[in-house]
Amino acid sequence: MQLGNGISRRYVILFSAGFIVIWLWLAMDEDRRLPKTIAWAIGKPVSTPENDVFDHPLLDSWELREICSSTEWNSSLILTCDDNRGGVGHVRNSILNCVRFAIGAGAGLVLPNIPLRDVEEMTAGAADTGDDIERRHGPGRQGMDYMFDKNHFVDSLRKSCPELVLVRHMEATTSNRRRSLLPESLFSNIPASGIEQPEEWRDRLNIWIEKYMSPEPAAEPVIVDLDQSVLHYPIYSDGQTLAHTFGDILKFRPDIRQMATKVLKGIAHSHDHEAGIAVQTFDISSPILNPSFIGVHLGTENPLAERHEVDVMYSHFEAQAAAYIEQATTSKIPIMYVASGNLPEVNKLVKEAKEWNVEVTHKEDVLQGKDADALAKLTWDQRALVDYLVLLKGQEFAGVGHSSFSWNIMLKRHQIGDGAGASLGNEVYRDGLSTLYGVRSSYVESSGCMWP
Ligand SMILES: *[C@@H]1O[C@H](CO)[C@@H](O)[C@H](O)[C@H]1NC(C)=O
Repeated sequence: MQLGNGISRRYVILFSAGFIVIWLWLAMDEDRRLPKTIAWAIGKPVSTPENDVFDHPLLDSWELREICSSTEWNSSLILTCDDNRGGVGHVRNSILNCVRFAIGAGAGLVLPNIPLRDVEEMTAGAADTGDDIERRHGPGRQGMDYMFDKNHFVDSLRKSCPELVLVRHMEATTSNRRRSLLPESLFSNIPASGIEQPEEWRDRLNIWIEKYMSPEPAAEPVIVDLDQSVLHYPIYSDGQTLAHTFGDILKFRPDIRQMATKVLKGIAHSHDHEAGIAVQTFDISSPILNPSFIGVHLGTENPLAERHEVDVMYSHFEAQAAAYIEQATTSKIPIMYVASGNLPEVNKLVKEAKEWNVEVTHKEDVLQGKDADALAKLTWDQRALVDYLVLLKGQEFAGVGHSSFSWNIMLKRHQIGDGAGASLGNEVYRDGLSTLYGVRSSYVESSGCMWP
């Protein structure tokens, strides 16, 4: 009896101690002050199926577990992933590439950071300014919870790739055992469809390390700061299932998800009251809401830093507006949700669409009061996350071929909505659920390097 008690007490203590350590690890912020997630949970409602239709479980992938368990892991090699520039389309892909490259190398990974963008830089269309160090370690940098749910990322990788060591934080040290690298630079002649032998990455990296890094002091880990890899990792090299689910390690922050849910509810509400049109209430929890609205991405504000040169015609407001209105009227969808960071252009679209009896709505139009205030507090790139989520669920989606944002949404809808095969004709790329305007065949090839 006593023995049993002793054991169980010891277990309780051990278990609690372990739990507290894990909890602290997860909850503590880099600066070791009051955990942000906790402070945050006090003022915000916890996600429920009612207030957050974009919540999803951790990635639970046996395909990834298989890759990770058959990898030889090297505790003296660590990669950082801080060069995740651009809008959400680029940032998502860039972080996912880093994780894949880390797994490929059997290396540890420091939790990614996201450099802030300068709105002026976006409107002026200037690309890189400032040197590498400034960009990577300058003051304008946030942790990944700037956009994503960090705990979800960590826990998903624990579940599906438990061998991968995640390092919470790393200082910007200099050392002759540390250097930055653009992963694809170790490969030559890369076609638009991506690196041809991604499995050679590990060996190529080790050769590069031997060539450029000091062998001493051997006790110190080798650190490789990954530069942003843009559309070069062929995602289907891991098989279709993993290609389609790997992106689930990234989930947007709960406040963004809840805000997007409110936008959907707002659209559904106005939809129900649409005068003279008999429409049924839509259940906003379905993956694709049909019938509901056509979501469009007015992608005129930021055609910079894309890999391809911008298609002249569809980079302008007029061509996008005309294509979107035509698609809405052809599909007989009376409500259009427009995603844009440019309110004057949104208002222009509202006017033009009205002539065709298409009612245009947008997040600033739907969110009122406290919700509008919360939206206004977000940065330009964070507000785009709300649009991203809303666009995933529309009955149809229309976007532009030169935008990684549009591509991300089309590919994600394709995967969640089980769309038909996609086809390209006349620079228009469509599957059963989405249409992109201004698409060249090389863009379609590159889309095999974007994780949905
Ligand atoms: C681990 O990485 C270090 C640094 O790159 C390298 O010197 C060592 O050979 C690697 N070990 C294995 C087993 O790959």
